[in-house]
Amino acid sequence: MTTENRPFRSVLYIPGDKQRALEKAQTLDCDAIIFDLEDAVGIDSKAVARDTLAAMLASADCGRRATMVRVNGQGSDWYEADLAAICATGPEAILLPKVDHAADVVALAAVLDSHENCAHTRIWAMMESPLGILNAAEIAAAPRMAGMVVGSNDLLKDLGATQTPDRLALQTSLAMCLLAARANGLICIDGVYNAFKDAEGLRVECEQGQVLGFDGKSLIHPAQLEVCNAVFSPSPEAIDLARRQIAAFEEAEASGKGIAVLDGRIVENLHIVTARKVLAKAAVISGVAD
Ligand code: COA
Ligand code: MG
Repeated sequence: MTTENRPFRSVLYIPGDKQRALEKAQTLDCDAIIFDLEDAVGIDSKAVARDTLAAMLASADCGRRATMVRVNGQGSDWYEADLAAICATGPEAILLPKVDHAADVVALAAVLDSHENCAHTRIWAMMESPLGILNAAEIAAAPRMAGMVVGSNDLLKDLGATQTPDRLALQTSLAMCLLAARANGLICIDGVYNAFKDAEGLRVECEQGQVLGFDGKSLIHPAQLEVCNAVFSPSPEAIDLARRQIAAFEEAEASGKGIAVLDGRIVENLHIVTARKVLAKAAVISGVAD
């Protein structure tokens, strides 16, 4: 599966030092995994996590799931050792935390260029600082970039903002990430929902992210997978509408018209582009479920 047609509905953080959680990587129903060496791992466990994860990556098969490793930040005590250990395993992707400028990505890309195992390795950026958000467009256009992940906890902290159920304080940042990602053909993943036992609150936040245009949401606990996968899959209603739009448009075209009318609304060529995307996504997801 290429990055282009892969689903990224559910993107689960798995702490690099939790052996039990790492073992689950091969069975959980998530579309992508972030193996974390950064914030999910305490300072005393950094070296153990790095070694445990590198050993696991060298042998594990995560099947259809996309994988990336979140290393510690550039300038931290662990960045270089993390990169050396993880690059040796030929990772699919590196998730770089606290990206402020495109130059941060360029520097990581240069390291990957020098590694024979990393010719294919893509870069994802954590979008979690005010400077990073303001520079989102240049970051998204940097070399090897495949996607962006919003770090909403760090953003709220740095903005001095208050968390509310409607995420009012984050709306500008979320939109700027999406604009930058879409302008450069990248995947864009929403931030985490901290209250991992609150399925209803999670659903509301997933729905908001889906409406805004995110491909999926980052998650912290397996209990969040089901709700998230459901919200970010095309609904039966959306699939039915897409099919009917395509049929109506083809019928209109056959009689020489460029616009169809369905359920009292116009259907133009651009709606057909979206309708075909919905059906293609549904087909990929139903393949995943088989
Ligand atoms: N990925 C994979 N498996 C996980 C998991 C995760 N993120 N979180 C929990 N599990 C597993 C546990 O290993 C446990 O498995 P088991 O029953 O087979 O032993 C099962 O799910 C139930 O875990 P539970 O007891 O409910 O959770 P916990 O109290 O041990 O941990 C958290 C709760 C939030 C601390 C833990 O989920 C976690 O560390 N999440 C990731 C946090 C993170 O990555 N933060 C950084 C990004 S914001
Ligand atoms: Mg962070």
